[in-house]
Amino acid sequence: MKPQQDALVIAARRAREFAHAPFSRFRVGAALETENGTVITGCNVENATYGLTVCAERVAVLKAVSEGHRVFRRIAIVADTAEPTPPCGACRQILWEFGGNLEVILANLTEETGRFRLEDLLPLPFDARFLG
Ligand code: THU
Repeated sequence: MKPQQDALVIAARRAREFAHAPFSRFRVGAALETENGTVITGCNVENATYGLTVCAERVAVLKAVSEGHRVFRRIAIVADTAEPTPPCGACRQILWEFGGNLEVILANLTEETGRFRLEDLLPLPFDARFLG
């Protein structure tokens, strides 16, 4: 029997369906869980100028913050890859700003591919503590 799938992963898979990725064709979905259990999703949104592309994780964080959420527990990230697709460096930094040491769940379309703590993906982070 298949192990039960985490609801956060299922939400990220659903969000991936909305990805706008005509250039890379690499579709990503993310689902961010707030401290009170609310789930805010995101997908990657590409642009014809390429550099303005925004990753799924950052879309989720910016949506959440713009709706008043500030404390997060977990994020699920889904891509159609056998190996885990980890968040890019820029997204790790943005996640750290609001998420702190949150749990990062990586998954593909059928199964989980890894669970990490953000501090292990972003050792020695720069953050507000350095600003005094
Ligand atoms: N991408 C994400 O949305 N999240 C990741 O964790 C890795 C990369 C997107 C950006 C771009 O639209 C496409 O995947 C290829 O890099």
